[in-house]
Amino acid sequence: MRDPYTRGHSLQVAKLASAVAEAIGFTGQDLELIKFAGLLHDVGKIAVPECILQKPSFLTSSEWKVIQLHPKQSVMIIDPIKGLRQIRDWILYHHERWDGRGYPKNVKGDRIPIQSRILSVCDTYSAMTEDRPYRKRLSDQEAREEISKVRGAQFDPMVANIFLDLGVNGYNGNFIKTFSKHTLLGDPNFENGSTGTGNGKGLHQGVLTIPSN
Ligand SMILES: [Fe+2]
Repeated sequence: MRDPYTRGHSLQVAKLASAVAEAIGFTGQDLELIKFAGLLHDVGKIAVPECILQKPSFLTSSEWKVIQLHPKQSVMIIDPIKGLRQIRDWILYHHERWDGRGYPKNVKGDRIPIQSRILSVCDTYSAMTEDRPYRKRLSDQEAREEISKVRGAQFDPMVANIFLDLGVNGYNGNFIKTFSKHTLLGDPNFENGSTGTGNGKGLHQGVLTIPSN
């Protein structure tokens, strides 16, 4: 790919998304498809001019609009591939936000496919922890703190909590028990009790200015 950041980024998103999905209970082909979605979510960036992808300063609003086309462009690329139809919407919605302020369709809450909500957290973490032409990477701890701040605003709080419970290279299997006990059995306090409202400031600002997203 032309963007040197995208390949490593996509591999990391695939790995992290797979770990989160496994912690939630996805198995077999469902898990494999999430990995594929992680690998291909940003393939549409091939249509974004290099001068925007690698711009060493913050993007203008018109440049940002070009970046925001990439989920649709990713879908246009994978649509002709019959075996990938199941992941098209997961990719299309990977920049939607839990509060409905994402793109491209401003879909909100659990109307966003769970797979997209998983991709969203992993994508943002990966982008924040990589060096970019216009900024230095955040540490693992700093990135986790940013994600924690916007649980319930940018991210599905349940998915964000599962992500935050993961080690960087794997997941804490004990969380499956907690998740199963509280969420799969329908404990209404679990999600509410663990929802961080966050003002969205730091990460929201970061996401709006991170071209990889
Ligand atoms: Fe993206």
